[in-house]
Amino acid sequence: MRLRLDAGDITQLYVDAIVNAAKKSLLGGGGVDGAIHRAAGPELLEECKTLGGCETGEAKITKGYDLPAKHVIHTVGPVWHGGDENEAELLASCYMNSLQLAEQQGLRSIAFPCISTGVYGYPKQQAAAIAVSVCKMFTSNAQSLKEIIFSCYDDESLAIYRQLLTDS
Ligand code: APR
Repeated sequence: MRLRLDAGDITQLYVDAIVNAAKKSLLGGGGVDGAIHRAAGPELLEECKTLGGCETGEAKITKGYDLPAKHVIHTVGPVWHGGDENEAELLASCYMNSLQLAEQQGLRSIAFPCISTGVYGYPKQQAAAIAVSVCKMFTSNAQSLKEIIFSCYDDESLAIYRQLLTDS
């Protein structure tokens, strides 16, 4: 099992699943959500409409349509309210539930964006520490998954993840 970084656009990755930092309705939005829907094409929204939304911390899977990725795992990160509203546990659940879903489907590779660190305002360093620790913990139980990619779209996130992966 390999953990690695990618500095580009998550929608360009040839992996079994990319993870979407979605909103509860799963009906599209801005940021990485908007980019994924644009690149996947309108059929993604049609499938999302059948899913009945998604609670914070949970995850649901669809096909990838026009994306190079075969699937999209949609998860809803917590909105940052200062850290006393269960944000850390909910963010950890996003990663854990996405990984478990990928394993259930027998997927070999998955790419995560920096969930909650854009519009939802989660501090990047704290969010990255959770992402890396959940994924590292998961590597010991992984069966089908061989590669986890952290998609870091901005330089600050890239530097934070690079440090965390070097230190651990
Ligand atoms: N590839 C990879 N990462 C990206 C891309 C991309 N194409 N576009 C944006 N990002 C990064 C941002 O730089 C940020 O670090 O994704 C991270 C998450 O930011 P947001 O997309 O704003 O997600 P989040 O903070 O979880 O907020 C979710 O935003 O657009 C809405 O529908 C979405 O309501 C939901 C909310």
